[in-house]
Amino acid sequence: MTAHYQVHADVAVITLDNPPVNGLGLATRRGIAAGLEQAQADAAVKAIVITGAGKAFSGGADITEFGTDKALAEPNLHSVISAVENCSKPVVAAIHTVCMGGGLELALGCHYRIAAPGCSVALPEVKLGLLPGAGGTQRLPRVVGVEAALNMIVSGEPVKSELIASVPGQKLFDKLAASPESLADEALAFARSVADVRPLPLVRNLPCKHPQGDAYFQFARNMVKGMAKNFPAPLKCLDAVEAAATHKKFDDGLKVERELFIQLMWSPESRALRHLFFAERAASKIPDVPAGTPLREIKKVAVIGAGTMGGGIAMNFLNAGLPVTILEMKQEAINRGVEVMSRNYEAQVKKGKLKQEKYEQRMALLSTTLDYAALADADLVIEAVFEDLGVKEQVFKQLDAVMKPGAILASNTSTLDVNKIAAFTARPQDVVGLHFFSPANVMKLLEVVRGDKTAKDVMATVMAVAKKIKKVAVVSGVCDGFIGNRMIEQYGRQGGFLLDEGCTPQQVDKAIEKFGFAMGPFRMGDLAGNDIGWAIRKRRYVEKPDMKYSKTADLLCEKGRFGQKVGKGWYDYAPGKRTPIPNAEVEQMLEEHRKSLGLTPRKISDEEIVQRLVFSLVNEAAHILEEGIANKASDIDVVYIFGYGFPVHRGGPLNYANEVGLFNVAAAMKRFAQNPLDDAAFWQPAPLLQRLVAEGKQF
Ligand code: NAI
Repeated sequence: MTAHYQVHADVAVITLDNPPVNGLGLATRRGIAAGLEQAQADAAVKAIVITGAGKAFSGGADITEFGTDKALAEPNLHSVISAVENCSKPVVAAIHTVCMGGGLELALGCHYRIAAPGCSVALPEVKLGLLPGAGGTQRLPRVVGVEAALNMIVSGEPVKSELIASVPGQKLFDKLAASPESLADEALAFARSVADVRPLPLVRNLPCKHPQGDAYFQFARNMVKGMAKNFPAPLKCLDAVEAAATHKKFDDGLKVERELFIQLMWSPESRALRHLFFAERAASKIPDVPAGTPLREIKKVAVIGAGTMGGGIAMNFLNAGLPVTILEMKQEAINRGVEVMSRNYEAQVKKGKLKQEKYEQRMALLSTTLDYAALADADLVIEAVFEDLGVKEQVFKQLDAVMKPGAILASNTSTLDVNKIAAFTARPQDVVGLHFFSPANVMKLLEVVRGDKTAKDVMATVMAVAKKIKKVAVVSGVCDGFIGNRMIEQYGRQGGFLLDEGCTPQQVDKAIEKFGFAMGPFRMGDLAGNDIGWAIRKRRYVEKPDMKYSKTADLLCEKGRFGQKVGKGWYDYAPGKRTPIPNAEVEQMLEEHRKSLGLTPRKISDEEIVQRLVFSLVNEAAHILEEGIANKASDIDVVYIFGYGFPVHRGGPLNYANEVGLFNVAAAMKRFAQNPLDDAAFWQPAPLLQRLVAEGKQF
């Protein structure tokens, strides 16, 4: 049992005890039901208190039961709440620290609620594309009012107990305890004070309506529609709350809530969000690195290079309160780098996102140097110098000479071989790739590149460091481009072929943005700088002469159209503006190029554009998975969601492929392979994909 029963004189206390947050799993639900029965059967017991052990009243559903039979097994949460409501003796919820989701729904079923100050109260189901399905949408509006309840349910954001308690007329809390420490005693005393009060009050019996009625819901619907974007859940939350306010009988509203909940449960959007919820947590686990691996202590950090990446990387550590020393070749480079960082922080201060004193505290943790000797006591050094193996060699040899034993030596390289970089040192076990994404202080993704010799405790340590600086870390093996960029290269190649065959950049961008990408490939190229891809292709032409590319991007670069930084790329840009303006010169360039190849442009559907771009990611991902570059399919989805603007409601490229059906995905690839202007060899479904199709399995 993960709920304990104890009798304190005339009050029974049921304590949820299912760490970490007293999730309402089957064993806990059984424990509550059994406790209620026992208390009812005991004539000496006059009242019952339900509370939580440790760090929560309850965080809600037990996520480990998601998708299993246990989640719905009796007693399910509905039955437990009914048992509480129907209990012949008063049941008091004693709430502290965390009271969320099913935990709050359980509390709302109790006859009384007493809360400790500082408790986070929320119905966060919307964040998983769901709605509170155990009466939350029906009971919360009855105790905090329709508007406040709707805000909480649609946003899923927590509200502090003392704030709720301060609202006149609220009925969520019957009492606010003086402190978390006094909650247990105050709950017992409160339970005794109401032991004989009859009839027992029930939230379901309270009235529920908004003074403006329909007009309010019309207004709210417009607001929610605007923010819901690709997700159905926020509007369904609103429907459910509206049902609470318009149905005369509580149980009719509850029925509506149930129907809406089931609709959402089966929606691809909720499946995508639930997939990502688990995928993000699973990403930090490395199969052969046990959870308890001892970590190296990281107290001081060094960064080599104060350019675009170095400054952003340093900011992550300063934000987390770790001192950082930046090393550069010249004082001017240091000054430039530090100025960019200061401006960045100042902008945050201006926008009210950062307090002036916090900014000062962070900058005070920063030191700079031109001398490697100053890095000797750093525990972790991250190199972010020019992307050139010769330069990296110089840097790593010097680091090897000065860094203390056991220090972790990391490279932010985006394309170079981490094993070669490790071999520049006499301590390859301490070398790892930490591939940040630009802007490094903003982007959540961190690819952790594991070299052949990288020690397990180094892996465990950098994963913990990633968490500390609030990154989502995914482990990648060593290969050109690692997980993310290796896949994006195929996506970019398809973009080029689509132009050759008749698309305009704006048509391609529009189609994939409608699918949900934050930005299409050509707008993305203009933002990142088209010269970067050009440099990579030039290398490819030598390394892989058989690889087929469209020449359009090279022609664009030959015209100096490098992107936003020069005001022109695939599109034109007004000075200081980021709005893409289609350009006639580019369209003419594309037409001439097609003519020179003897190609007649054809009309390409948005569906074909999206499939070719997305399935190119999927096929490369299947190769990556099979080669063991990625540990699991969900890691690849995490990379694409947090690093490449893949639409969240689709759950990442491999989740999307599963949704489409792998048979259909492979069939489309075989069709694309028939197109003489495309790359037939690339479109052979990867062996792993073929196997999964044959076995009727998913990624
Ligand atoms: P950058 O050119 O903006 O900055 C490089 C900095 O390193 C310059 O300030 C330069 O003075 C300094 N530097 C060069 N050689 C040095 C040496 N021997 N010792 C000390 N400092 C030295 O380059 P950026 O864009 O910051 O790239 C740095 C690294 O990060 C590269 O490996 C790049 O591939 C990688 N990267 C870049 C991304 C981007 O979007 N820019 C994204 C992810 C990784």
